[in-house]
Amino acid sequence: MNNRRELLKLMLATGGALVVTGGLAARTMRPDSEPVAGTVPALAGPITPFQTAMPIPEVLQPTSRSGKTDYYTLDVRQAVTEIIRGKDTTVLTYGGTLPGPVIRARSGRTVVIRQTNRIDEGTSMHLHGAVVDPENDGGPMDLVAPGATRTYTYPNQQVATTLWYHDHAHMTDAEHVYRGMSGFYLIGDANEDALGLPSGGYDVPVMIRDVGLDDDGSLYFDHLFTSRPQILVNGKPQPYFRVRARKYRLRMVNGSNLRPFEFKLSNGDSFQQIGTDRGLLPAPVTTTSLPLSPGERADIVVDFSRYASGTRIVLENTLFPTDTTAQIMRFDVGDTARDTSRVPGKLATLPALGTPTVTRTFTLTLDPATGAGLINGRQFDMDRVDFTVRQGATEIWEISNIDQIPHNFHIHLVDFRVLDIDGTPPAPGQAGLKDIVSVMPGQKARIQVGFDYPYLGRYYYHCHLIDHGAMGMMGQFDIVRS
Ligand code: C2O
Ligand code: CU
Repeated sequence: MNNRRELLKLMLATGGALVVTGGLAARTMRPDSEPVAGTVPALAGPITPFQTAMPIPEVLQPTSRSGKTDYYTLDVRQAVTEIIRGKDTTVLTYGGTLPGPVIRARSGRTVVIRQTNRIDEGTSMHLHGAVVDPENDGGPMDLVAPGATRTYTYPNQQVATTLWYHDHAHMTDAEHVYRGMSGFYLIGDANEDALGLPSGGYDVPVMIRDVGLDDDGSLYFDHLFTSRPQILVNGKPQPYFRVRARKYRLRMVNGSNLRPFEFKLSNGDSFQQIGTDRGLLPAPVTTTSLPLSPGERADIVVDFSRYASGTRIVLENTLFPTDTTAQIMRFDVGDTARDTSRVPGKLATLPALGTPTVTRTFTLTLDPATGAGLINGRQFDMDRVDFTVRQGATEIWEISNIDQIPHNFHIHLVDFRVLDIDGTPPAPGQAGLKDIVSVMPGQKARIQVGFDYPYLGRYYYHCHLIDHGAMGMMGQFDIVRS
């Protein structure tokens, strides 16, 4: 295991150096962020960890509600925030905050978001993990022009889950998301309510991502993984979080463009994983370690009642145990608090797997010479539909990473189940409803996907290491009537 980690680290480091800008440089909008070969950014020195409290993103309030619909306004705009104490950082946001506000939706109630794009580049908001028609999916070609306004309509006909929204404008999404354009979208339902999980102030969204800050506090952007040595949690560098000595539900999303994590508590203690990308697991999984690749979500419950007031526990990243990203945040345990929440032994029933009739294969690779992202040897082409899928079909997709750097694989609209990775069944924490599968160097993942949705039309699949998608590691398919 340790050897594997060391190997991965090496691969990440060299891979990062290989993945320069390739075909993307010409589309990088801001001259000040244009990478120059051979230069090292004047990144800020190491930030002293645990100096700032972890903020909890605000819940966005609807502008109005009708019988079955909640209406929101959420504009894209530039904002200034403080990441390094005393320095201004200009960010691109939804609603003015880093990350954007939390939208709390209910299964079966429609959400309508009215959005004006107040930045000077086209944007496209994608609700990652939403079961939604193509017109509202926020695809890479469906841009909202600067100054324009549109609405996105989400029916929320899906089970309780932790989703997130982020920009998806083709090629510029990597920079837009890097500069701040993402936020949480949580769907609740009656099944989840009945479980009695930690809720209210004890149900906390936690967005973890890396970033590269210049000395003056500004965000440094290129496509190098190695240019992002600092960790932000809910927009603050390696914060502390004061918790009561009771159970907390933490909804973790890896909001990084490129960096995979593997989390553990510094005391080695276990916690419970209760959910994956697209909903609750059938039963809680007790574990001491949580891998999370870019875009993946995991719902965990940590019971701090095990600790005396004054105990400090660091959330660590074991993939990079010796660098500036080794420590993510710190939990500072305070007094006990009344806790009537529980984690029942049975959480959800997963839908039965259908009978697959089609197998497709996908090979992911970055061309080191050109920087092009390739799936089956081809770069994304908006004029090419890669294949069609029959509505209602069940398929097996085999995804191979033939590179020495990590990739992962995301499909719009659907959830899927991981059948195996290199022939080994997934760990219990990966065996739930997924919409991203991590495919580490040399691995082959097999997933089973059902297309039983009420929508026809164009959807996308891509590597969710967003810079790779921007470089063309993406494809599109049409769902057609069977
Ligand atoms: Cu989270 Cu196509 O994206
Ligand atoms: Cu990739």
